[in-house]
Order: sequence, then structure tokens, then C-alpha cells
Amino acid sequence: APVAAVIPAAGRGVRLGPGAPKALRALNGTPMLIHAVHSLAASRHVSLVVVVAPADGPTEVKSLLDAHALPERTDFVVVPGGESRQESVALGLAAVPPEYGVVLVHDAARPLVPVDTVDAVIEAVRAGAPAVVPALPLTDTVKEVEPATEPGAPEPVVATPERARLRAVQTPQGFDRATLVRAHETVTEDVTDDASMVEQLGLPVVTVPGHEEAFKVTRPLDLVLAEAVLARRRL
Ligand code: CTP
Ligand code: MG
Repeated sequence: APVAAVIPAAGRGVRLGPGAPKALRALNGTPMLIHAVHSLAASRHVSLVVVVAPADGPTEVKSLLDAHALPERTDFVVVPGGESRQESVALGLAAVPPEYGVVLVHDAARPLVPVDTVDAVIEAVRAGAPAVVPALPLTDTVKEVEPATEPGAPEPVVATPERARLRAVQTPQGFDRATLVRAHETVTEDVTDDASMVEQLGLPVVTVPGHEEAFKVTRPLDLVLAEAVLARRRL
């Protein structure tokens, strides 16, 4: 089945601090979103990229994409996003024609994901998994707390889940298209990743190995790291 990639890029980037919408911030001179689109289009399996732009930004995003040519095999479409990531993904998914049997959802904020990670996700979906997530073991120990009401106040620790059983998950997450459409139609509460909606349908979600360079650019230090990774790749 042909593969489409939906790239939610409509967030403001509050945690990155003041400035342009996060996906339009430059990394070594090129907008983060352009790096992300090219990372997905690097897979020879991906034949459509749907970019979900900031609500007021589709025209700007379209000209950026025109200026940074994609491989000839890859079409692109730009649609305006929504208030939440979940809503933006649903809007992007609605722009994927039904012949695309496999849909990847990839954060514009993970601009440096290697093509081997993208291909591993696609391969696992094509092998029959309804939902696939790239995942890495944690380095920090994680505590569950009773969240404080004022910021900075001490928080009682409730539990320490066994670290060896935990994974940090990344994107692209890959789906059988019909499954992802049904998940978005069915699940109404807020989620932080797409695979958790498939879990709520009671369907299996599997992991493939993630990659350190697929980290999410969230806070200012992440920009420093992303630019260093690009410099190491000589980009
Ligand atoms: N996203 C989106 N639409 C939204 C919110 C987020 O398309 N309404 C996208 C972001 O552009 C990003 C991805 O979802 O590519 C992951 O979200 P996150 O890293 O949280 O980005 P922001 O929401 O932009 O950042 P912040 O939460 O710090 O404001
Ligand atoms: Mg956010």
C-alpha cells in the first residue's frame, strides 16, 4: 500500500520561548519543518506528505516547500491546523486520499529522524501491525507524583515504575489508515500521542527501535543539540 506522511506543524512552541511558530524556526539556516519534511520524504516508500501548517500560515508554508524541492516521487499538500495537536492530526488525516493504506504521523518538531527509523516503522505496518511506534529505553529513573497545585512546590512521590519496562516513544508513528481514522473518530479525550488512541480501541500497538536523533525539539537547549547534529552531518 502507498504511504502518506502527515506532519503536524501547527503548534506555537511555547516552551521554546518567544519567536516564530516552532516549526518555522531555523536550524542552521533552514526552517525546522523543511528538515522534517525532507527526513520523511527521504524514504522511497513515502509518496505523499501532508503538512499541517499554523492556522494563519499555509501560504507561507506552501512557498517554503516550493523553494526546497522534494524528490520527484513525493507529492505534498498543505492544510491549516487546529487548536490541539490531536485536532491538527485529524485535519491532516482528512486530506489523505483513501488509496494510501499506510499513514505515518510525524512531529515537525522531530526534524532529524533518520530514514532507517522511518523505514522500520513502515515495514512493521506493512507486516501487519495496526500501529507502530519508535521507542527507546529511558536513561532517567521516572517517579509518579501527586502533582502540586503551585509551581515549584514539593510533590509527594507515589510510585517508581520499573525503569527496564518503560520506553520513551517518538515519531513517526505508523498506522493502518482505516485504524487511525477510526481512532480519531472514536476517541474524544485529550491524548499526547496517536498510538494511545489505537490502544483505547483495544488494538495492538508495537514498538520498533527508535533513534537518539529523532529527539523532539521542545526547549531552547534542544535547538543547540539539533544544530550540532546538523553540523556533524555537514548540513
Ligand atoms: N502541533 C500541531 N497543532 C497544535 C499543537 C501542536 O500541529 N495545535 C504540532 C507541533 O507543531 C509539533 C507537534 O505537534 O510539531 C508536537 O507538539 P509540541 O512539541 O508540543 O509542539 P508545540 O505545541 O508547538 O510546542 P509547545 O507545546 O511548547 O507550545
Ligand atoms: Mg504542544
